[in-house]
Amino acid sequence: MPIRYPPIPSSEITEQNLYLQRRKFIRNSALGISSAMLPEIGTAARLHAAYSRYSTTEVATGYKEVTSYNNYYEFGTDKSDPADYAPSLKTRPWTISISGEVNRPRVWDIDALINTFPLEERIYRMRCVEGWSMVIPWLGFPLASLIHQAEPTGKAKYVEFTTLYDPAQMPGQRRAVLDWPYVEGLRMDEAMHSLTLLAVGLYGETLPNQNGAPVRLVVPWKYGFKSAKAIVRIRFTDQQPLTAWARSVPSEYGFYSNVNPAVDHPRWSQAKERRIGEFFKRNTLPFNGYAEQVAGLYRGMDLRKYF
Ligand code: MTE
Repeated sequence: MPIRYPPIPSSEITEQNLYLQRRKFIRNSALGISSAMLPEIGTAARLHAAYSRYSTTEVATGYKEVTSYNNYYEFGTDKSDPADYAPSLKTRPWTISISGEVNRPRVWDIDALINTFPLEERIYRMRCVEGWSMVIPWLGFPLASLIHQAEPTGKAKYVEFTTLYDPAQMPGQRRAVLDWPYVEGLRMDEAMHSLTLLAVGLYGETLPNQNGAPVRLVVPWKYGFKSAKAIVRIRFTDQQPLTAWARSVPSEYGFYSNVNPAVDHPRWSQAKERRIGEFFKRNTLPFNGYAEQVAGLYRGMDLRKYF
């Protein structure tokens, strides 16, 4: 469903139009129209006019912080490395293959994908396993739309996401920080959940490379590392995927990785978090504040065991 906006005061209409104009940019990117040709939108808070019933009304983290404080180990382990080194990544042409337990396997061109599934804005809280959080206005479409299109077979129980392996373009992959490529996974019902997005933009613009262009996963009730960037393959399986983090450090990174203030990381507490841009820490909420929508997926499971 496309974004629906609530009535807005006339004083904000110009901003709103500017914003909608910028949204069009994402569809124009393939035509080579540059964002520099469009007027500047201004600061974060203005996007609050945009409404989705899935969006938080909390203040969004500034564009600068969202795009300069990142985790993307393919480009280095410092928070500033992705903004420094990811911009040179070539994100066109780009394909995403859909394979495994589906009736309709196919290879999607990224622009065909963007033009097929209506984009929505979703302002989500994001919580990193390291203890910081942000509020990010994503542009994307529900992963469920793509899954429906692929027609999973009855054997599809999990979805595996594989991201680009290209050490020539991704200097971090020349070091054995992780067993590359970066792989993540979801259970089928998690992948189909209406909160789960494939994001292709943020702040009304094409996704910056450091945030996972051209397409990344967004799963707001899980720690940030589940939200894999630069996806090239989506595979449906009957086995729980072995994720890159679980393969490297299984005692610290479980498959589920639901945000849970009651279960500590082996080396630190997860009870509190620092919202980027704020000084005082705040309490972390179960399922990152999305318990009402997702707790039912885990009814009856011991979330200490399945962390
Ligand atoms: N995806 C890939 N391919 N490589 C990574 O290192 N880091 C993850 C996740 N996705 C990562 C990745 C982690 S730990 C976090 S917290 C989020 O990306 C950060 O997303 P952001 O930089 O857009 O905030």
